[in-house]
Amino acid sequence: MSVVKINVLSVPAEMREELERRFSGRAGMVESSDGFEWFELLRPVEGTDSYLVYTRWRSEEDFQRWQSSRAFQAGHAQAQAEAQAEGASQGHGHGQGPAATGSELWSFEVVQSTGPKA
Ligand code: HEM
Repeated sequence: MSVVKINVLSVPAEMREELERRFSGRAGMVESSDGFEWFELLRPVEGTDSYLVYTRWRSEEDFQRWQSSRAFQAGHAQAQAEAQAEGASQGHGHGQGPAATGSELWSFEVVQSTGPKA
């Protein structure tokens, strides 16, 4: 049974563009991870201010394996570098800091799914 893992990112309005820029320069390594099925970056329009990073995996184990892999680290290199720069400068500038101010992981099991008829 596939599982859906959604990373919910709180992004201040002035950092939206930066967040999207980081994702457009993303590592693109998740695509080659075993058991990976789908990824979408969802920009909020109505009802929430959070961006959703939607991912779907063949199994919980496949997701866990990716999360502890070098591909995951590489996929977060920009976010990590910015977080460190922010820590080093104690939040006083030098580097913009992480684009997201918070994150939360939601987990689901896929009960049904469908697409358009061929
Ligand atoms: C501390 C929590 C997290 C934050 C702040 C965060 C933020 C980001 C950012 C800004 C990027 C763009 C690339 C970069 O900055 O290097 C990214 C990439 C990505 N994130 Fe996260 N993320 C977090 C955890 C997670 C988790 C738990 C998932 C699982 C659903 C996830 C899924 C992804 C995926 C699939 C990519 C693209 C990687 C690739 O292209 O290989 N992230 N994330």
